[in-house]
Amino acid sequence: MNPLNHVAIIMDGNGRWGLKYKNSRNAGHKAGLSTVEKIIKETIKHKIKFLTLYAFSTENWKRPKKEINYLFNLLEIFLLKRIEDLHKQNIKLKIIGIKNFSTKLNKLLKLAEKKTAKNTRLHINLALNYGSKFELINAFKILSKKKNKVNEKNFVKYLQTKDTPDPDLLIRTGNTNRLSNFLLWQLAYSEIFFEKKLWPAFNKKDYNLIIKKFKKVKRNFGRI
Ligand code: IPE
Ligand code: IPE
Ligand code: MG
Repeated sequence: MNPLNHVAIIMDGNGRWGLKYKNSRNAGHKAGLSTVEKIIKETIKHKIKFLTLYAFSTENWKRPKKEINYLFNLLEIFLLKRIEDLHKQNIKLKIIGIKNFSTKLNKLLKLAEKKTAKNTRLHINLALNYGSKFELINAFKILSKKKNKVNEKNFVKYLQTKDTPDPDLLIRTGNTNRLSNFLLWQLAYSEIFFEKKLWPAFNKKDYNLIIKKFKKVKRNFGRI
């Protein structure tokens, strides 16, 4: 049975779900937040130590302003309401991505990170305004300015995921089979599960089934 230390999730399909059932993409984003709560709970039950959630990509700025505003407003409300409880549950929250949001949201994110920094039960990376290509170029730039040798060990020090082992398992919901600029380096040896269900419809049973299948995969890492 494979150990499972880190799950990464591309939470895709909110908009389609919202349009189909509530006639509004934004209603899908709201429903997607409930799935986030359920999946966090289940992740803790499985004693998984790291969870990385893709919430907003560097490319998602191409969406209509109304949808972007709704998303960040939703995030603000979520943090204000839930951060205390996440902290009590010994959950660490870290943002990966470029923190250049409104002053209010930037502050809130920093506060949430600071407050939960020493927590140890579950480390959540929230990928917000995250783009893997940006992250990689940034790391190369920093490393090239240092005297350090260019090698894997030195390179990963400058990735935003430097405190996190690489994901063992990547799940993408929403019936789309692509990575969309997510953790291109870190996913080099992850087991990838593409799930047909849209994110708001994804539930703990689906999650548990994927985990069960993951545990039985023969992971080679180049060996036979
Ligand atoms: C994923 O759901 C969430 C974000 C990118 C913020 P989408 O909003 O991409 O939903 P679909 O893919 O359009 O259905
Ligand atoms: C990927 O979903 C980003 C997130 C889930 C946050 P998208 O819906 O933005 O991906 P594309 O544009 O369809 O590839
Ligand atoms: Mg999408």
